[in-house]
Amino acid sequence: MNYDFDTIIARRGTDCEKWDLPAEDGVLPLWVADMDFRAAPAIVDALRRRVDEGVFGYALPPSSWHESLVRWLVRRHGWKVEPDSILDATGVIPALAATIRAICEPGDKVIIQPPVYNCFYSIIHAQDCEIVENRLRRIPVPDGAEGDFTYEIDLEDLERKAADAKLLVLSNPHNPAGRAWRADELRRVGDICRRHGVFVASDEIHADLQIPGSRHVPFASLGRDFAQNAATFWSASKAFNLAGLQCAAVICANDALRASIRHALRANRTGELNPFGFIASKVAWDECAPWLDALRAYLHDNDSALRSFVRDRLSALQVARLEATYLAWVDATPLGVPSAEIARRLEHEAKVKFSPGAIYGEEKGAAYLRINLACPRATLLEALGRTARFIKGLKRK
Ligand SMILES: Cc1ncc(COP(=O)(O)O)c(C=O)c1O
Repeated sequence: MNYDFDTIIARRGTDCEKWDLPAEDGVLPLWVADMDFRAAPAIVDALRRRVDEGVFGYALPPSSWHESLVRWLVRRHGWKVEPDSILDATGVIPALAATIRAICEPGDKVIIQPPVYNCFYSIIHAQDCEIVENRLRRIPVPDGAEGDFTYEIDLEDLERKAADAKLLVLSNPHNPAGRAWRADELRRVGDICRRHGVFVASDEIHADLQIPGSRHVPFASLGRDFAQNAATFWSASKAFNLAGLQCAAVICANDALRASIRHALRANRTGELNPFGFIASKVAWDECAPWLDALRAYLHDNDSALRSFVRDRLSALQVARLEATYLAWVDATPLGVPSAEIARRLEHEAKVKFSPGAIYGEEKGAAYLRINLACPRATLLEALGRTARFIKGLKRK
């Protein structure tokens, strides 16, 4: 079956964060991680059937939605989990907040690996914990072309910082560095954490968005000891574009830890799902693998389109290798303008909105932009054209 990712959908004026937050009309928003594509037809049909029932009282999520997730994890990722190890949550970030509360006391140290997803900063601060940065190391792509770059984990620094930390929040795959961590890398991280009694919260929300040819390794799949020391955060929301339905799962094989996380979720009532969330997620996992594979191929082509555009018309910029996610991490340091300022000027002068690297904790003195590639190719090329014209004007001044 052919799926259409090329049609441009008018989302402005639909109460949509991505399109309606930019105050000015005409801005192309390639920022927050949501996709400008309709959900898979089977998901839309299932939701329509539920809407036709016309009654929207409190839901009782059926165990079958966990069973669908269990089957999906085995089929797609070769990871076997017990249905009993799964907890419901209204999002990965609410679940992460509950997990931090379950494990940490105020003042405890929580490690993150910047440049990293901005909400990790805010959610850890909101639990009154201290953030410790184990910064990723930028490295050239082995055998890559001149200027190609990627990131690796600084294990010596992690070893030092783990000594008095309580928790590591892992972004696997990594937003915005684009890394799909390999098993050997995750094993080293897991060994360090176990040695120092640091619990691992593995945010795997982008796991299903591997670039074709690259593979997701669930952290907790690496062995019983790893699974006992981890909670994994999973959702259909990124890969199937269902973020507004607010539905996620925490997978934790450690009975005592799972009980504490469940308690924290219940304390703040962030474990109660709405019916649309679990219906859509279940259909996604049961029926929509072909749609997802077509999407991944399209996103990969968008990534290639970005790279050839940058080569031809934006040669001052460099793009990190993308192994997973649809978020391109672009080094704009040579422009000589801080990322917050470039992003603000791009939005107001060029009418294209990217996320500034500053919110992810970019390297000091550097300026990065995060570009969301999950849009019709025509939108992406128009946004890049506007960017190229803006940068040309910037250089002339
Ligand atoms: C790494 C990562 N974790 C979590 C989230 C948000 O998850 P949720 O909307 O389920 O709270 C995002 C959204 O972009 C993300 O990129």
